[in-house]
Order: sequence, then C-alpha cells, then structure tokens
Amino acid sequence: DNGGYEHYLLKEISEQPDTVARTLRGRLDDRFHIAHLGGLNMDPRESRSFRRVKIIGCGSAYYSGQIGAQLIEELARIPADAEPASEFRYRSPVVEADTLYIAISQSGETYDTLAAVQELKRKGGRVLGIVNTVGSAIARECDGGVYLHAGPEVSVASTKAFTSTAVAFALIALHLGRVRDLSPADGRRICDGLRKLPEQIKEILTQEEHIRTLAMKYADAPGMMFVGRVRGYPVAREGAQKLKEISYVHAEAYPASELKHGPLALISPELPTVAIVPDDELLDKNLTTLGEIRAREGRILMVGHRTADAADDCIVVPKNETELDPILLTIPLQIFAYHAAVALGRDVDRPRNLAKSVTVE
Ligand code: BG6
Repeated sequence: DNGGYEHYLLKEISEQPDTVARTLRGRLDDRFHIAHLGGLNMDPRESRSFRRVKIIGCGSAYYSGQIGAQLIEELARIPADAEPASEFRYRSPVVEADTLYIAISQSGETYDTLAAVQELKRKGGRVLGIVNTVGSAIARECDGGVYLHAGPEVSVASTKAFTSTAVAFALIALHLGRVRDLSPADGRRICDGLRKLPEQIKEILTQEEHIRTLAMKYADAPGMMFVGRVRGYPVAREGAQKLKEISYVHAEAYPASELKHGPLALISPELPTVAIVPDDELLDKNLTTLGEIRAREGRILMVGHRTADAADDCIVVPKNETELDPILLTIPLQIFAYHAAVALGRDVDRPRNLAKSVTVE
C-alpha cells in the first residue's frame, strides 16, 4: 500500500519523521545520557574492550556506515572505518579479537554482507548487525545488534533505512562513548540533538516544492558532481548514489579537498556541482572550494545551513549538533533525486538493472 503517494519512494522519504522516532523509541536514557541498546548483548566491560571498529555493508548501507564510522570516532574516539562488504570478504581480512565488526543491511539478506559476516564468525570475530528486517539471515547470524524498526522498505533505492541506520550509529556511538570518555554533558547534548531530528526532518519535507523546482532545473545536465568534506563526504556519496540509481544521470562524488587533484578538469557549465556545506569547522574551506568551481563557470547547488553568494542555488536545512548534521543533510538529496527521476520519466520504484535485495554473488 503506497498510502496515496504516487511512488513508494516518496512515501518512504515522507515517513522519515516517524521512522526516525521509531529507531529512537525507548533507547535514550535521561538520567545517564546514554543509549539503551539491549540487543548488543555486551556488558560495559566488553563495550570498553574494543580498540577498533570495522563497518561493512553494500551500496547505501556502506555509505551510511561511513557516517557511522565518523560518529564512532568523534563520540567514542575509537578508530573506525567502513568498507564494502564484498571487498572485505574477498581480500581475506585480518580478523582481530579487539575489533568490533558491524554489518549493515536493510533487508538482512544481501549475499555479500551475509558471506562477510559468516567469514568473520568463522574466524572468531565479534559481529553486530544493524538490520531493518527482524529475523532475517544477517540478523540471525550476528552476535547481537540494533533493529531499525523503520518498517518495510519497498522502493529499490534506500531512503528511510539509510537515515535510520545513521541514527542507530549515533546511538551506538553514544553508547561506546559513554562507557569511555564522552562526558555526561556531551552525552546530554547528543541525546537532545537526536530528539530534535523528527521535527527537523518535517521542516525539510516542507521544502519539497523548492527542491522539486531545483531538480527540474538541474535534471537535464548530462552529469553532476557531488562534493563534501569529512562529515559532508558520505552525504555527497549517498546523494550521488540516489541520483544515479533512480534518474540514471551520471553522478560522481568526491571529497571537496580532492577536486584540485583531478576532477576540477571536468568542471564547466555542463557539469553542475552539488556542494554539501555544513556550518562546521570546515565551512571556510568549503566556501573557498565553491569559489574555485565558480571561477571555472561551474553551476553550484549548495546544501547546508546558510546561503552563500558563490552558489547559484541553496537548500538550507535546520542545524543540529555538528556530529548529527549528516543525517539531516542527506534528506534534501533524496527529494532532489526523486524529483529529478520523475522529471525524466523514470521508473522511480523499480530502476532498470537493480534489485532491492541482491541475494546472489
Ligand atoms: C542494493 C540496493 O542492491 O543493495 C541498495 O539497490 C541497498 O538500495 C543495497 O543499499 C544493500 O541492501 P541491504 O538490504 O543489504 O541494505
């Protein structure tokens, strides 16, 4: 049932205030400013024992894992990184006892992710799952984990599961942080920020008409560049992924800092750039990058917390805590990709050549 929406994708984008609230429900503790995640099956001593976190998943799950790795590094100060599950499993990874492995999957059935989890288990690795589908193969295989409770996701391109996964990572990072050195004050700051997300997502959804106009303006470009720095980079990658999978417009994501090491050669009026520019410590560097793109006559759509003269168009999203901002910055890019795909007459919910869940190698 698509609930009166023209496409499941739009329904799932629009549901996000509610699905994020469901991912958070009952999990924030106001007394100790921690996250309650009973499904992790870990006591505080074990939670403290990990010296590294390795995150694996495929497609959008992998990009949400990149957001997760940054959250864990920032809040818990544990070295963390994300890798595509298929790459991980084929390179015969070194599995270490003091590494916490986290597998991400909306469906819980993606074959490469499942095989990576099985390889980890075979080598004695400690694996948690962030999974949407209760009782799925990956959920059963993991030692514990966090369910998203986002409800079934029908459209092939992931939206609400992506957002809820990032929220689940914020909870895990809060948990790992508060058994280490994250202060109660910072714990409270993150709890308060997480609680604000549903209302702030609603605010972004009210901008749909503005974003639709921009999507129609840019949809005829032969390709688009997406750039961001640090927290903005996984957002750029997911934005490019959404655009290419449902609109078939070529989209490339790059760290903004890497532009001058190659892709700046591509910048021209024919290749517009979507720039992710949060109000964080990298704002000035990002604004300098916009100037460099502008100097090559590149058109710029900026997504951030303010407008800027160097950009042709801007989407302004509500500010949250800096660590949590990537969660909100991704949402306008989902709406943008959706309306670009509609404008180009694509089969939004069932894009060519793709499957919702890839259960083969
Ligand atoms: C892809 C889907 O093939 O699988 C993506 O098209 C999804 O949208 C990816 O992100 C991973 O799926 P899952 O179910 O493991 O999260």
